[in-house]
Amino acid sequence: MSVLIKNGRIITASSDNVADIFIDGEQIKVIGENLDFEADTIIDASGLFVFPGGIDPHVHLDMPFMGTSSSDNYETGTRAALHGGTTMVIDFVLQKQGNSLQSALEEWRSRSDNNCVGDYSFHMAVTDFNENTKKEIQHMVEKEGISSFKTFMAYKGALMIDDRQMVGLMQEVKKQKGMVIVHATNGDMIDYLVAKHKAEGKLSPLYHYLSQPEVTESEASGRFADMANYTGCPGYIVHLTCEGALNAVRNATSRNQKVFVETCIQYLTLDSSLYEKDFEGAKWVMSPPLREKKDQETLWAGINQGLVEVVATDHCPFNWEQKLMGKNDFSKIPNGHPAIEHRMELLYSEGVGKGKISLNKYVEMSSTNAAKLFGMFPRKGTIAVGSDADIILFNPNAKHSISVDTHHMNVDYSAYEGWKLTGKVETVLLRGQVAIDNGECTVKKGYGKYIKRSKLTGIL
Ligand code: URP
Ligand code: ZN
Ligand code: ZN
Repeated sequence: MSVLIKNGRIITASSDNVADIFIDGEQIKVIGENLDFEADTIIDASGLFVFPGGIDPHVHLDMPFMGTSSSDNYETGTRAALHGGTTMVIDFVLQKQGNSLQSALEEWRSRSDNNCVGDYSFHMAVTDFNENTKKEIQHMVEKEGISSFKTFMAYKGALMIDDRQMVGLMQEVKKQKGMVIVHATNGDMIDYLVAKHKAEGKLSPLYHYLSQPEVTESEASGRFADMANYTGCPGYIVHLTCEGALNAVRNATSRNQKVFVETCIQYLTLDSSLYEKDFEGAKWVMSPPLREKKDQETLWAGINQGLVEVVATDHCPFNWEQKLMGKNDFSKIPNGHPAIEHRMELLYSEGVGKGKISLNKYVEMSSTNAAKLFGMFPRKGTIAVGSDADIILFNPNAKHSISVDTHHMNVDYSAYEGWKLTGKVETVLLRGQVAIDNGECTVKKGYGKYIKRSKLTGIL
């Protein structure tokens, strides 16, 4: 199959020009003006932006969590991602404490294999670092293509590791040329505040928010940065939400350290006033919680200051019935919200459309930096000869709105219901195949490929 895309405005992280793209098979073969190749499919992209396919490096599909499972499986989740222009996701394998990394990987593969519509990869969450786990790190990096290791500084008893394990893991991951990534909040402090609020009979979703104040995140972010600095291990903080945490990263730069930062689209666009809606606030119960307007300003500024590298989603959807598990106790509300489908359009509309970020920055945040940081560049994350033909044709003027009635995620509410956006994904190509065409998905489950990732350099 060959495809010729004509006259689109091709925007990468570092370039912006009108040209044609010739694709043969899965890769881009030629980029140039007035290309005159014969092709099976010719697409006129006049007036459209041509972006590299989005990469969301933080999603949880079909994940057993808090007594239930996230409601999007690998098929529905990656299909919804494609509808929104995200051609590749990185999901998390969670080691069970007491068990091996390999057994967790096999369990996750039993759910993901042959079920993805879009491309995918895995981070490995190390929840129990010991002499046995240590021996598995090299295998994960060299044989399984998993070079990023997730750690939790919270969720004690299930996922959290202590600082002793963190330092040991960092030393091994550095040796094997990987990266440690972290959910950086102070688990003990949060557990104390949760117990205190419950003892006082404060049980609504608002107390989820009040149990995770900014200091719980800034303290843990600073501690993580200190341990990464001490060990020399590349470090990346996932879903960073607030001014205090970003300042901990900023402070680390004064000793010439680079800590990579991911924020998520919800922390840029939604705020904690949503927790004042009584139990409806459960729709936005996630960890860390939504923050304040001043934190949104800090995050947008952090993107332009080069302190924030990636905008992800932490997509972890639960149906309303599942959220109701915490009707009488906020600590039982499954944590997470649905966003995999909306990240690219929200970031465009709220970011580029409102003059907060440039078009090149948009591409960097939504695709290129994730590809570079997680060992997939230039195969993924750009539009270049030899790269996978993962391409979005984007209409910058189309107006539309978000609703549960029209989204493709397997979840019965929208966290962005009624939001009006400018800019819409019209066509998506994944490895040379038209995958989304005017709102229709034209590839089947099983088309999505597992992408093995390289060793990581810890530089962009
Ligand atoms: O609330 C969230 N974030 N749920 C998913 C698990 C995690 O902490 O990333
Ligand atoms: Zn997390
Ligand atoms: Zn997460």
